Amino acid sequence: MINIALPKGRLGERAYGLFERAGRGCEEIRSPGRKLVFENPEAGVRFFWVKPSDVPIYVERGAADLGVAGKDVLLEHSPDVYELLDLGIGRCAMCVAGPRGWRAPEDATLRVATKFPNIARRHYAKSGRAIDIIKLNGSIELAPILGLSDVIVDIVETGTTLKENDLEVIERFLPISARLIANKAGYKFKFKDISALSADMTEAAGEAD
Ligand code: PRP
Repeated sequence: MINIALPKGRLGERAYGLFERAGRGCEEIRSPGRKLVFENPEAGVRFFWVKPSDVPIYVERGAADLGVAGKDVLLEHSPDVYELLDLGIGRCAMCVAGPRGWRAPEDATLRVATKFPNIARRHYAKSGRAIDIIKLNGSIELAPILGLSDVIVDIVETGTTLKENDLEVIERFLPISARLIANKAGYKFKFKDISALSADMTEAAGEAD
């Protein structure tokens, strides 16, 4: 049995669609309810829904053999896992954004609100800019509106959230998409099954493109 951690939410639903197309579906997963674990013994898979930012933890520690995680989550937490495939879904970009028309003052310390402090720190380290990171857990766009920060570092997909809050992209610096990741030991022990699944997922992701 291959244990697979899926991120709860829209990305997870789309990722599950790829597993289904790759012949590793589990019909019961589509039924509404609060159940978290779903098995298809014939296909040799067991899925479980976890919080998106927790996927790398399950995979790194071997509670899951495989998982689906955004490149944003992987770059932020740097888990010790293999990255097997770019699934080509959940495409978006890591951006610096701020109030429309706002320009950074040359020398003042920049206050940056973000869910991704490590990514933000690495980004500004390149230019040597002095920053003050304000770590938030959601609704990041509120920070510059309320004067909590000057700018935000966040993922932008359609740009709707920025637009509806009078913010704009200042810099788009990192393309993001969802990746299939594997636990290192599990990859060795279940090499044959994981390779076969990975090949079928490559095909399913190609068709979905
Ligand atoms: C993400 C991100 C932006 C939004 C971008 O938030 O933090 O707020 O999506 O998408 P858009 O460009 O298509 O508008 P998420 O939905 O994960 O919610 P959160 O604010 O709780 O983090």
